[in-house]
Amino acid sequence: MRILAIETSCDETAVAIVEGDGERFGVIENVVASQIEQHRLFGGVVPEVAARMHVPVLPKLLEALTSWEKDGIDGIAVTCGPGLATALRVGIETAKALAVSWKLPLIPVDHIEGHVYSSFLVNPLLLPLGKGERPAYHSPLATRFPILCLVVSGGHTELVLMKDHGAYTFLGQTRDDAVGEAFDKTAAQLGLLYPGGPSISKAAITGDAHAIDLPRPMMDSGDLDFSFSGLKTAVRQAIERVPVPGRDEHFVADVSASFQQAVVDVLVHKTVHAAKRFVPSAVMVCGGVSANRALQQQLEAALRPIDLPLMAPEMAYTGDNAAMIAAAGLRSLIDGREAEDPFVVDADPGKVLGRHWKWQV
Ligand code: KG4
Ligand code: ZN
Repeated sequence: MRILAIETSCDETAVAIVEGDGERFGVIENVVASQIEQHRLFGGVVPEVAARMHVPVLPKLLEALTSWEKDGIDGIAVTCGPGLATALRVGIETAKALAVSWKLPLIPVDHIEGHVYSSFLVNPLLLPLGKGERPAYHSPLATRFPILCLVVSGGHTELVLMKDHGAYTFLGQTRDDAVGEAFDKTAAQLGLLYPGGPSISKAAITGDAHAIDLPRPMMDSGDLDFSFSGLKTAVRQAIERVPVPGRDEHFVADVSASFQQAVVDVLVHKTVHAAKRFVPSAVMVCGGVSANRALQQQLEAALRPIDLPLMAPEMAYTGDNAAMIAAAGLRSLIDGREAEDPFVVDADPGKVLGRHWKWQV
């Protein structure tokens, strides 16, 4: 089965074609156009600018797909939420037009479910395949459920138990800032470029993770919730204690490393706690922040003594992309979760993973 997918929920315009059988997902084509350079001028994503920029770029990306034709495509998947309403609508209306004119099912996809499925993309092809060529699948690491998922992105920090395809139970989530947001805000305080995650992790390489004493919020709260706004404030106070001339490269590296270690400590501790309690067959980390090497390495090391493998997306699929939306959409289509009426499909900016779409209730 082959799915063409569109993703425009935030500041990446993305299209992809994925082929799979519902357990294994091979990427045929994957194109992402980032708007980061434009949003960097404002220090963060400006929703109206994001939406307007998707409009001319999306048709060009579709046209650039080498297997861009109706033949062989079994469905059109599109991110419908969570995300920025006006940005989502650009992708949704385009997907609707394609699905209706090509008489194909339209599959609404939850962006967070897409991030979960990014870890199932087992064959990141660097070269696009020609028509009729099939991707060579690697064996999936684990599709045995339940899988404990740590979702860490710019807007989400959640521990979710995936009991089966499409079946999720929330175990814990952030009570304030998402972890990616904390990286972005801390980077801004340090004068580092947006997005903050990559800037901080790069600066942290030469820093001392123990140089600045920072709190580990809610680490021993006993539940599986998170809080990162206090940590962000503690970093600001640590910066303000040092006069401006002292805020040199070494200082920035030390703050970055100390902040990153505080975040990683909390995420690893809570994930291991949840793993011991719910005994999954694997743990998964996904979402933009899963690109963080320190997080991946320390999580993997902490799971080794309890014999749990760590699933994580290939680096190319950690950030927003449409291959993950195609994979989640493919599985949704197999499970009969396509839209009954494509015309009622709309943006659902506050969509919660596992809940119905707003037009279904
Ligand atoms: O999943 P994503 O691309 O978009 C959302 O759905 O939000 O996540 C973006 C977030 C940003 O906050 C960015 O700073 C963060 O992921 N990020 C990282 C790293 N790379 C991206 N955070 C920490 N370390 C990284 N290496
Ligand atoms: Zn995302």
